[in-house]
Amino acid sequence: MFSCKTSPEVGGMGHSVKRKEDARFLHGKGNYTDDVKLPGMLSMVMVRSPYAYAKIKSINKEKALAIDGVLAVITGEDLAQYNLHWMPTLLSDTQMVLPTDTVMHQSQEVCAVIATDRYIAVDGAEAVDVQYEPMQAIVDPFKALDDDAPLLRPDKEGQKDNHIYHWERGDKAKTEAAIAAADVVVKERIHLPRIHVASIETCGVVASYDKDTEKMLIYLTSQAPHAIRTILALVAGHVGLSEEKIRIIAPDIGGGFGGKVPVYPGYVVAIAASFLIGKPVKWIEDRSENLVNGFARDYHMDCELAATKDGKIQAFKVSTLADHGYTDSSANPSKYPTGMFSICTGSYDYEHAFAELDAVYTNKAPGGVAYRCSFRVTEAVHAIERMVDKLAAELQMDPAEIRFKNFIKKDQFPYASPLGWSYDSGDYDATLKKAMEMVGYDDYKKEQAEKRAQGKLMGIGLCTFTEVVGAGPSKDFDILGIAMFDSAEIRVHPTGKAMARFGTKSQGQGHETTYAQILAEELGIPYTDIEIEEGDTDTAPYGLGTYASRSTPTAGAAAAIAARKLKDKGKKIAAHLLEVSEEDIEWEVGKYFVKGAPEKSKTIQDVAFAAYTNFPPGMEPGFEATHYYDPPNLTFPNGAYICVVEVDEETGAIDVKRFVAIDDCGNIINPMIVEGQVHGGLTQGIAPAMYEGIEYDDEGNVLNGTLMDYLVPTAVESPHWETGHTITPSPHHPLGAKGVAESPTVGAPPAIANAIIDALYPLGIKHLDIPITPAKVWEAIQEAKAKA
Ligand code: CDP
Repeated sequence: MFSCKTSPEVGGMGHSVKRKEDARFLHGKGNYTDDVKLPGMLSMVMVRSPYAYAKIKSINKEKALAIDGVLAVITGEDLAQYNLHWMPTLLSDTQMVLPTDTVMHQSQEVCAVIATDRYIAVDGAEAVDVQYEPMQAIVDPFKALDDDAPLLRPDKEGQKDNHIYHWERGDKAKTEAAIAAADVVVKERIHLPRIHVASIETCGVVASYDKDTEKMLIYLTSQAPHAIRTILALVAGHVGLSEEKIRIIAPDIGGGFGGKVPVYPGYVVAIAASFLIGKPVKWIEDRSENLVNGFARDYHMDCELAATKDGKIQAFKVSTLADHGYTDSSANPSKYPTGMFSICTGSYDYEHAFAELDAVYTNKAPGGVAYRCSFRVTEAVHAIERMVDKLAAELQMDPAEIRFKNFIKKDQFPYASPLGWSYDSGDYDATLKKAMEMVGYDDYKKEQAEKRAQGKLMGIGLCTFTEVVGAGPSKDFDILGIAMFDSAEIRVHPTGKAMARFGTKSQGQGHETTYAQILAEELGIPYTDIEIEEGDTDTAPYGLGTYASRSTPTAGAAAAIAARKLKDKGKKIAAHLLEVSEEDIEWEVGKYFVKGAPEKSKTIQDVAFAAYTNFPPGMEPGFEATHYYDPPNLTFPNGAYICVVEVDEETGAIDVKRFVAIDDCGNIINPMIVEGQVHGGLTQGIAPAMYEGIEYDDEGNVLNGTLMDYLVPTAVESPHWETGHTITPSPHHPLGAKGVAESPTVGAPPAIANAIIDALYPLGIKHLDIPITPAKVWEAIQEAKAKA
């Protein structure tokens, strides 16, 4: 177990200190993009398409412009004059900023109304007269590939059908041969539905162009402000926006979960409008706009898992159809168009695996958001974890036993996975054992047997996942060519207090506290004496932002190494002050002392003061350090989750009785923050498992575009989460830490689905796609009874 090296007052790693940022949030002093008010600021509202697929016959601005206070109506034709009507997505596809002739999904932005306030802008938007010629939308991704399906993207040179790309990993021939020769093969088509991140704060921007200084100041709900600055400069450089003139400030953010990584058309139009009008322009999405204009997941996965008859897994094959809507706007690194889906071989040791994916266009919103996961890990984990349970059911084996039989063992790390990853560390047996003890697995097994004998439906579901977080390394990971690493810059002031800035950007994860704790651990300066800043591109060192649980693996590591650079400099200063040679100086958290004479010492604060007042001759003054950390590998956190449910046969109602989550994220910086991350993540895991899914009718209308219909779970729906940890430090991370934030969102859905299917097993129900709602369960029960 991890033992703290620092006192609670210093508050280094392992201390559950309270979050420094919380006073500001609890007192209503958070400063979000919509809180920004600038003199003369205008408001922008979008006119949106009621159709999923239609030609635009005309846009008449007249009535809107006649309204007092409406200053402009900006159309695609207007932007086309500056070649700003299309933009690249983060995965090198193209997306309309505003259309010139065709709308491709319901609620697509058609034009923008700029007015002196939001109310007038809304009136103006209603007064714009757009004439459409509706066309038959393609909603079903399988039908999008039919030979007679209309070509949705004729604008793309060389595009002959609606197929976007094919990707594959692994040895197809060997995997298929192993499957053909196996004793047992289980197969299933698994759909992970289109869902939305539904963060509390929607997306928004305030753009303010100053014609005199030529500076563009942008307040943006962005998880990656530096990358967005570079992309804006590349896209809009030709109209005079060059990178040194763009300042992006990502203020407080009310939840991102991947949804605040991309560039949305509203951002670009507001920036263009401010540039043209010369006044600040604010655009804030409303809730429905937010809900229907982006998505995560939407993978249809055909899985085959092969094993010997005693349950030793031999091969896994998964062929996926990915519905990307009208453009592939996934935020994935270019070498990984399907993100880290190839982690789909899971926590198990076997030789043969093959994964392939075909992506298609449909008339739905662009998205492919990596919703609280490393670019498609949720999909991967759901596939393998459902299939392992299916195999256990087929072989009548206990799902825990089959997992123990197939786990990668502790001494096999670093483990080379069949699809090309090098897992850094883990002790999967210990993690699952701990979860089983905590839940009382054996007792539940007995209770289940008794309940089944009484005709009651009780299920126990397991998920033992391996995650992959912390992009870079830069050799493999990028955003539109910008290499992924991250950065920390520390300034220790003469009085021994400090300020540190990072290239990441918290959206509620507590970075202002945990980064200060890392520095406290390394330098011995109390965490309360260290201010943390992120999100301002004019001041923070360049970084790739926060998503995919990358902050701890990358910027957290950068902080530790920058602090170590400072410690090295401090050693020279201490030697000078103590009049001994550097070799005679030793370090103990917070102070330097003379070897063998611990009473002769200088605190880190003494040394910081001397760095400005009494440094050795020839030494560069000051006490500052910067590090850009390019990780040698990703980190591979893991977890064992167990869910116990009861299902009411009459109504299909599902009662989650217990949920135990044991996570292993290596060494923990702040246990209380990690627990909070796990609680929130688990709730975002039960969401798609039992409630959430964006639904469309055949015309491409979104059927649940409000929070009345799109069921985001609240505290009432959330079970009591029981959490715990095993600790297997990452061998390559300077602090032995791994990321944690997304693990629970990844691990919870299969645990819940497996529990519900296990409950329904006596009725012969072998699979249901999530969200598994009471209505879906009820229907499945009726069908099963009709068949029996
Ligand atoms: O990139 P993001 O901040 O979303 O994810 P993360 O690196 O997993 O960190 C989420 C929060 O948990 C941060 O405040 C981390 O410092 C904290 N954390 C921790 O205390 N110990 C760990 N081993 C991992 C994360």
